[in-house]
Amino acid sequence: MTEREYLPLTSPDIETVYQSENLVLLSGKANPALARDIAHILRKKLDEPISIFGDGETRVKIAQNLRRNHVVIIQPTSPPVNDHIMELIFMIDAARRASADEITAVIPYFGYSRQDRKEMSRVPISSSVVAGMIEWVGADSIFTLDIHSEQQEGFVKIPWHNLYASYCLLPVIKSENLKDLVVASPDKGGVGRATAFARRLNTDFAIVYKQRDIEVNNHSKALAMIGDVEGKTVLLVDDIIDTAGTITDGSKLLKENGARRVLAAATHGLFSGDALDNITKSPIEKVFITDTINLREEVRNHPKIEVVTVAPFLAEIIARIETGTPVSELIL
Ligand code: R5P
Repeated sequence: MTEREYLPLTSPDIETVYQSENLVLLSGKANPALARDIAHILRKKLDEPISIFGDGETRVKIAQNLRRNHVVIIQPTSPPVNDHIMELIFMIDAARRASADEITAVIPYFGYSRQDRKEMSRVPISSSVVAGMIEWVGADSIFTLDIHSEQQEGFVKIPWHNLYASYCLLPVIKSENLKDLVVASPDKGGVGRATAFARRLNTDFAIVYKQRDIEVNNHSKALAMIGDVEGKTVLLVDDIIDTAGTITDGSKLLKENGARRVLAAATHGLFSGDALDNITKSPIEKVFITDTINLREEVRNHPKIEVVTVAPFLAEIIARIETGTPVSELIL
């Protein structure tokens, strides 16, 4: 982490957290780098209890005593999604059976969150199934960052707090001093998120109209747009970059409509398939992405990509959960 990223914690009782032997941090194999950064900031040891048996089964063995402790499990359910979900489920079960007092699942990226409704006949609501498993196995609360749709918090009866990586992205975007800026949503589903950025950056707003083919995975087309981007610098804001089709398609349409420059910001970087190639060939000048997902070296080294860490933010959130301090002021 650079000095700029390594922000001081502002939780009023941070010394209590540093001293506390009650707080135990666990990480699966999904994003140990992020979990280690969080543990480092909180001055805690990180337990990484996952190993894999020869036949591919997941094994969990937690080294330390958990009786009466508050166990925080940091595990984005990123690809391979099913493996990382099972690691999370087994870690929660192990902590529950070891008599932990409280189990908090910090899931920076929630896999399956785009399968959040029955958009055609004979399909599951996969996100609801995963959330139900997390609740059933014994988590006391869930924390996510930029869940695809916030009503998913209602899939379970335990508290599910969704937070926003805009807390980390906005200062970095502001420091770029972008002139004549317009924030754009790459589809109608992202309007709430993008308007929140526009409000914070005090800019105008535009929407790209994207049509998705629900019969074909990862297939969409940017068709039209609302708003004036002529001669403007446009920041496309999205929750997820998967194949990068949405933002690169949107960037071309924005250029055709007279945008001078196009940049993009998103929370979760899956960068599957031809994503990096798509970004390279697109008019997008720069992509701001966070480290909720463990990013491959080629992503981190891509000349158009700037990684913004969420580690200090999540450390702050965990400190506040531990001390019972409100997190509402960290919601931007
Ligand atoms: C879709 O509704 C999401 O908000 C993202 O726009 C989408 O998942 C991005 O996927 P891709 O990068 O493959 O276009």
